[in-house]
Amino acid sequence: MTLVKEVGKSPYKIVRSATDRAINGAPPMFDEPIHVGRPNIGNHKAFLQRASEILDSGWLTNNGPLAQEFERRIAAFLGVKHCVAMCNGTIALEIATRALELKGEVIVPSYTFVATAHALQWQEITPIFADIDPATHNLDPAAVWRMITPRTTGIIGVHLWGRPSPVKELKAVAKEHNLRLMFDASHGFGCSLNGKLVGGFGECEVFSFHATKFFNTFEGGAVVTNNDTLAEKMRLMRNFGFSGYDNVIYPGTNGKMTEIAAAMGLTNFEDLEEFVAINRSNYCTYRDALSSVHGLSLLEYDESERNNYQYIVVEVAPYFPASRDRIVEVLHAENVLARRYFWPGCHNMEPYRSYYPHAGLMLPNTKSVSERVVVLPSGSAMHADAIRGITSVLSVVAAGA
Ligand SMILES: Cc1ncc(COP(=O)(O)O)c(C=O)c1O
Repeated sequence: MTLVKEVGKSPYKIVRSATDRAINGAPPMFDEPIHVGRPNIGNHKAFLQRASEILDSGWLTNNGPLAQEFERRIAAFLGVKHCVAMCNGTIALEIATRALELKGEVIVPSYTFVATAHALQWQEITPIFADIDPATHNLDPAAVWRMITPRTTGIIGVHLWGRPSPVKELKAVAKEHNLRLMFDASHGFGCSLNGKLVGGFGECEVFSFHATKFFNTFEGGAVVTNNDTLAEKMRLMRNFGFSGYDNVIYPGTNGKMTEIAAAMGLTNFEDLEEFVAINRSNYCTYRDALSSVHGLSLLEYDESERNNYQYIVVEVAPYFPASRDRIVEVLHAENVLARRYFWPGCHNMEPYRSYYPHAGLMLPNTKSVSERVVVLPSGSAMHADAIRGITSVLSVVAAGA
C-alpha cells in the first residue's frame, strides 16, 4: 500500500505542563487539523491502473465489470451468498428495510449515526429508540423487548465501533415476537463474532464504505444476505426496478455503485490486512499510553475475535478532573479534532426530538454514554509519535493542569 501523507510536523511536541498546551497560548501540536476519520487508502498505482481501464472501456456505471468483481470478492470474503453493492450505506439501509417490507415501528438504538434512524423516517417508518448496554454500547436486548408494541415489525441492531451486537439474544427477541431482524454493519467490516465475520447475521446486513470507514470506496455501501429472493429484490430496487432494458417490474431508486468506487474498493481490499495491522498498532499505542491515565478508559476490542480497530473510543469517568467537552476543547486547540460520537443521541436530533420529546426517559444509558465518550484519531496516516503527543495532552489534563 502507498501511505497517505503523514500528519503534521515531526517530532511532535510532548505536553508536560499546562503552559505547553495550545489552549493556553502555546503553538498547536499539529500544523493541520487531524480528523478522526482519516481515510485508509490502498496502493495508488493499482487504483490508477483500474481508473485508466475504466476510462478506456467507457463503462462507468450500471453494474460494470468492476462492480461485479467487487460484489463477488466481498461475498466470498464474508462467506455470504450475495453482496449487493450500492452508492452509499444510507441508500443501502433504505433499500434493505424496504425489501424486508418493514413498516409501522422499527426498533433501533439512539446511540448510532443518525442515518440508521433517518433511513426509516425517510420512508415514513417510525424509528423507536431502545437503550444500550453501557458496557458494550450496543443495543440491550431487554431494552428492545420493552419497546415492542403491536405496530413493531423489525429490529435493526448496529455493530457499534465494529464490536458485534448481541446477535443471539436479539434473534431470540425477534423470533418470540415475529419480527424481522437486520443489522447496520457500517462499522463492522472485517470484524467477527464467535469467529464468524459480520455479514451473515440476521436477514441481511448493511455496510457503509464511506471515506471515513475502515474500508472505503470513496462513497459506497452494500447489503449482504444469504437470502436469494431478498437479494434479487434489492438488485431491482437499486436500479429503478428495471428487469431487462424496457421492463420495469418494481418501484425502485438509484442505488448503484459506480465503477470508480468499485475500483477504489478492489484496491483497498488488497490492503485490508495492512490497514488492520496499522489500526491495531495505533490502538495498542493508545492503550499503553492511556493505561496510566486515571479516569480515562479505552474501549477494548476482544483479541480472540477479528477486529478492524478503526475507532479509538475513550470514556471519561465522572471523577476525571475535566469534563468530556473540556477535553474536546483542549484537543481541538492542538488541531486534534476529537469527536463526541454519537452525542447527543438520535432522539435528541430533529425530527425525533420534536416528535418524541420524552424518548430520553427510556434511554438513561444512551445519555450517560454519549456524555462521556470521546473518539480520537486513528487510521493509516497516524503513527506512534503523533499518538504519544495526543496522549501527553490527556495526561496533563488528568493531572489537573
Ligand atoms: C452506523 C452508521 N450507519 C449508517 C451510516 C451511513 O452510511 P453512509 O455515509 O455510507 O451513507 C454510517 C456512516 O456514515 C454509520 O456510521
